[in-house]
Amino acid sequence: MRRKLVAGNWKMNGNTEFAAEFAQDLKAKLDAAEVTCDVMIAPSAPYLALLANAFSESNIQVAAQNVAQFDKGAYTGEVSASMLSDLSCQASLIGHSERRTLFGETDEVVAAQVSQLVEQGITPVLCVGETLEEREAGNAEQIVENQLKAVLERFSVDQLKNLVVAYEPVWAIGTGLTATPDQAQEMHAHLRSVARELDEQWADSLTILYGGSVNSKTAKELFAQPDIDGGLVGGASLKVDEFFEICQSA
Ligand code: PGA
Repeated sequence: MRRKLVAGNWKMNGNTEFAAEFAQDLKAKLDAAEVTCDVMIAPSAPYLALLANAFSESNIQVAAQNVAQFDKGAYTGEVSASMLSDLSCQASLIGHSERRTLFGETDEVVAAQVSQLVEQGITPVLCVGETLEEREAGNAEQIVENQLKAVLERFSVDQLKNLVVAYEPVWAIGTGLTATPDQAQEMHAHLRSVARELDEQWADSLTILYGGSVNSKTAKELFAQPDIDGGLVGGASLKVDEFFEICQSA
């Protein structure tokens, strides 16, 4: 049985006061309620230590939004996987569409980032997704399959044992346009079948999140789909009540 996971991606939002208050509120809400899913928050890098500290006695995981593809050295502005480990970060997003389109990160870069994370025992949360043009041209499955295979082809099942995949159609991110539960389920099933080519058992245990305008109204039906194991939540993760409601629907 796969456990559900709800991960919040704060993107470049928040400050010290916001992060401290959010952490306190979320912890209190989760302590007081029966929430059975795993919960993860990905703040901007300057707030990783604050959250790791605030969540140290809880099960809430802290994730980075990105990681360097190199291990150390003259890479101004970068944050290495060993630094994330040093800050008690359990996971890192990689290959988010904003990183791919705005910062030119390619499948090769993403694979190098996986390698760094695997070395440090940090969970890679690999984001994949097609643009609207790619979907309309009928290429969605192929595009997303290629993004996943770019990682699967380079690593062993053992190295990828903690991998999480997040399917995020680019046209649904921050637009209010959620993929329908059927559209999302179809892609998740496809991704799992691609993963089966590497290893059947591993594919069955692989967590595949859906992301793209998830909110407390759409979460329940999305998360009820057989191959959707939770969500990667952007905008709606900035409001603690809304985010908590999403966790409750998982
Ligand atoms: P959104 O973002 O929920 O605001 O659409 C999701 C994401 O980019 O991870």
